[in-house]
Amino acid sequence: MNKKLIVGNWKMNPGTLGEAKIIARKVRRIADGLSSVETVICPPYVFVCGCSGRSQSRLRLGAQDVSQEYGGAHTGEVGANMLRDIGVKYVLVGHSERRKIGDTDEIVSKKLVLSINAGLIPILCVGEEIRDEGGAYLETLKKQIKESLFGIAKKYAGTIIMAYEPVWAIGAKQAMISSQICEMAIFVKKVFADVFGAEAGMKVKVLYGGSVNKNNADDIIRAGKVDGLLVGRDSIDVSSFSELLKIVDRI
Ligand code: PGA
Repeated sequence: MNKKLIVGNWKMNPGTLGEAKIIARKVRRIADGLSSVETVICPPYVFVCGCSGRSQSRLRLGAQDVSQEYGGAHTGEVGANMLRDIGVKYVLVGHSERRKIGDTDEIVSKKLVLSINAGLIPILCVGEEIRDEGGAYLETLKKQIKESLFGIAKKYAGTIIMAYEPVWAIGAKQAMISSQICEMAIFVKKVFADVFGAEAGMKVKVLYGGSVNKNNADDIIRAGKVDGLLVGRDSIDVSSFSELLKIVDRI
């Protein structure tokens, strides 16, 4: 069965390890009772170990970023192999908040390669900053996707998950409307197919992110026809996120 993937990006929250453990424990209790959702939480690096639970749990751990370097003299960096070693399964790569502080497409592609080599499942975040009437944003997005995927061998296409996040919808009041999400998910698949071939384009999972909450999750999955959601703010609000998970599990 093709499970929906729901990824909670905690960003730089919560403030303490104690709170992180409580959120993880509560989300795990819900995630373990779901049959058609794979739930992933991405706590800040320092809280990842504290958020892991029993190995039988269905809740998966993700990281919010990864180093573009393999190892060595890189102060402050965390490598893909280190993440794998502590039980991380997924990693966000190229989130717009990382791109804003310096991640170029070239850096993103290096992070993708190292993540894949370490056995992590990278979630490649892409999205336009603004939308213009003339549709130039489509070209911008195409370029971003192609350059981020540069250097990835075709045989690894199946390990990559795409997350379409229009930057203007992140941290906003409203998500993109579902009919547009549907169009954009198709566009992302088409560009993916340009890079890796038609079959890979048909198979790739596309998530949507940007102001997702329990009230719009059902519509975004059904009418937006995406394979899952990347949730920011609402993923650390346990009651709201739990409800969202249960709603998606019923789809
Ligand atoms: P948001 O963030 O849900 O708070 O808009 C989404 C994201 O940055 O992934």
